[in-house]
Amino acid sequence: MRILLLGSGGREHALAWKIAASPLCDALICAPGNPGMAALGRCVPVDVMDNDAVVALARAERIDFVVVGPDNPLANGVVDALEEAGIAAFGPSKAAAQLEASKGFTKDLCAEYGIPTGRYRRFTDAAAAKAYAATHPVPVVIKADGLALGKGVVIAPTERDAVAEIDLMFGGAFGEAGRSIVIEEFLHGEEVSVFALSDGKEALFFGTAQDHKRVGDGDEGPNTGGMGAYSPAAIVTPALIDDIMARIVRPTVAAMAARGTPFKGVLYAGLILTAEGPKLIEYNARFGDPETQVLMPRLTSDLVPILMAAAEGRLAGVTAGWRDETALTVVMAAKGYPGAVEKGSPIEGLEAAEAAGAIVFQAGTGRRADGVLTAAGGRVLNVTALGANVTEAQARAYDAVGRIDWPEGFCRRDIGWRAVERERG
Ligand code: AMP
Ligand code: GLY
Repeated sequence: MRILLLGSGGREHALAWKIAASPLCDALICAPGNPGMAALGRCVPVDVMDNDAVVALARAERIDFVVVGPDNPLANGVVDALEEAGIAAFGPSKAAAQLEASKGFTKDLCAEYGIPTGRYRRFTDAAAAKAYAATHPVPVVIKADGLALGKGVVIAPTERDAVAEIDLMFGGAFGEAGRSIVIEEFLHGEEVSVFALSDGKEALFFGTAQDHKRVGDGDEGPNTGGMGAYSPAAIVTPALIDDIMARIVRPTVAAMAARGTPFKGVLYAGLILTAEGPKLIEYNARFGDPETQVLMPRLTSDLVPILMAAAEGRLAGVTAGWRDETALTVVMAAKGYPGAVEKGSPIEGLEAAEAAGAIVFQAGTGRRADGVLTAAGGRVLNVTALGANVTEAQARAYDAVGRIDWPEGFCRRDIGWRAVERERG
């Protein structure tokens, strides 16, 4: 089979690593891909936001199956365009990707179907939003409705901050994404990610993880795309998984089907484990980054037939096998991230890190004309290791980090800290 993978980050490198290992995969094409993915398949510089160009590439390369990594092409309808052209693709339609692309859409769906989530209201008018915020207990959560590169969520500690944020959003700080906003109750508890695959009817549990969104140790500093993750998140017990599948994931899949926009693809539920049970904070319609980098090393099943079953409505009876071990990934980012970063600094020592037993997934990397690997983005490397528990996986991942020679990079030193504390007892 000839497979096309869309995207260029660490998530896509991890997917490429697993897809390339499938006996079903005869050829892997990555668009646009990155230097890490170039070792597993052929990279083609096609703009994944140009649906016609993606369809043309799939035709020219006689592609049998397309896997979409990032959210933006999904919200842009790439799966609809591919299916119209008769090309099978893994990922939701544009209408189903609304679950990620519109926070208001998802909140309304939860309200209609009784899916546990925080109390909320939607606004398209600043004055009404401010009046509501004034009566709301703090902290209060203000969200731009649309996709805002992970920056459209603010936890306002005071009413004054809430008002400033409302002005910013309606003032166009997030463009179209902020023309409509959600004001939501702040949920107290630990945050976890739960993944499920859906074929539009069935839902297959596909692992848990815990991400670390803040840039600094101890969860301090600005929000990022994610500075490291581990899987499984042991705090999500088997009973809790059943509860989340029964009360949150399956009702969502059923609701999307009932509305005539069945959801096929990965449903990534961001949840807070509150005193009243798990509550949904958001859905993503794609795999997590860096969560995928810890899910793929644990998956013992062949990924390709599972993704095909989801795309083709055949998920009933499909199972996935997982290693009992914990996987932990440390994101190495360019100094300055999540702010402005300098590109072009050389990176060495990946072979040494891998020789020590780690897997290094590449995100924002580039290759110089002389072959030297360089930094080409904010999040650059995902240094990943397996261990008997979080403590061991963490020690192995940081041992590998220590073998990488990149003075212009940095990482958090405490990925997995909550779980390590629990393992200490
Ligand atoms: P997002 O960019 O949508 O992933 O949201 C950023 C982060 O804001 C989430 O990962 C949570 O940590 C936090 N967050 C969002 N909504 C809530 C909420 N209702 N209560 C508490 N924390 C929240
Ligand atoms: N790890 C956060 C995300 O993928 O959105």
